[in-house]
Amino acid sequence: MTRVIYVNGRYRRYRDAFIHSEDRGFQFGDAVYEVLEVKDSFLVNEKHHIARLLRSLSELSITPPMSARALHNIMLETIRRNYLHNGSIYLQVSRGVGSRNFLFSEADLQPTVVCIARTIDPIHQKKASEIGIKVITHEEIRWARCDIKTVMLLPASLAKEKAKVSGAHEVWFVDDRGMVLEGGSSNAWIINHDNEVLTRQVDSSILYGITRLTLIDVLKKFNIQPKERAFGISEALQAKEAFITSSTSTVMPVVSINGHDIGEGCPGPVTLMLRNAFHSVAEISSN
Ligand code: PDD
Repeated sequence: MTRVIYVNGRYRRYRDAFIHSEDRGFQFGDAVYEVLEVKDSFLVNEKHHIARLLRSLSELSITPPMSARALHNIMLETIRRNYLHNGSIYLQVSRGVGSRNFLFSEADLQPTVVCIARTIDPIHQKKASEIGIKVITHEEIRWARCDIKTVMLLPASLAKEKAKVSGAHEVWFVDDRGMVLEGGSSNAWIINHDNEVLTRQVDSSILYGITRLTLIDVLKKFNIQPKERAFGISEALQAKEAFITSSTSTVMPVVSINGHDIGEGCPGPVTLMLRNAFHSVAEISSN
């Protein structure tokens, strides 16, 4: 349970953790965020997440609110105050508070910083990985800069809700040529019949996933060279295995796409091997 939330320099009780009504994150989606895995109270892949946060801020010309060290201390203190063992840290930085105006460059804005800890039950996650998840595909309805991790998540939220209604757990966005881009909140992978491990190359149409990046190292450990290229829905439907990667799910098997079983319709052996090896390769931060 989340007890305490960091908001702009203060650790507030959950019910008192407010930000201003004219925060640009609230009015314009003018904010970026990171979600980090917390394992045994340690942060996973912190350096990569902070580097991506700084890049997102820079792409939007938002001045970093503080040093990486200060952000580290806030995340650890939030973990400590919430007695968090396993779960996630949500770190959000908005451009700040100002009377509503599309233009921002002449306003003197101080970024808003929020840090929230959340528990994820590892037993529940393990059970989910033993069953695998179902995915549906969805036309791309997001903007052209999905490489920036902004809070403008309404398209993903609507598409994921559609997936849920259809009995699936994740959505894979597909471009107008039928090529898979990424998940609503994850990166998409398949293992095809030539035993190629495929995930889409990174550019402005998908997020440069940190779990994706680590998984490339995990694959190399097993002498598997992943291919970073686009794959279509039909190739995905014929795949031997499929999975998603994200900080909150690490490596999660996909057992069905649009109602079609993938492989045997159960988690694939390579996927499970990669999932098991993930934390031996990921960077676990020291306190
Ligand atoms: N989402 N693609 C999208 C669109 C995402 O939102 C995410 C992560 C990823 C995977 O990135 P990473 O491996 O760095 O977590 C890919 C987080 C978990 C979220 O929004 O909750």
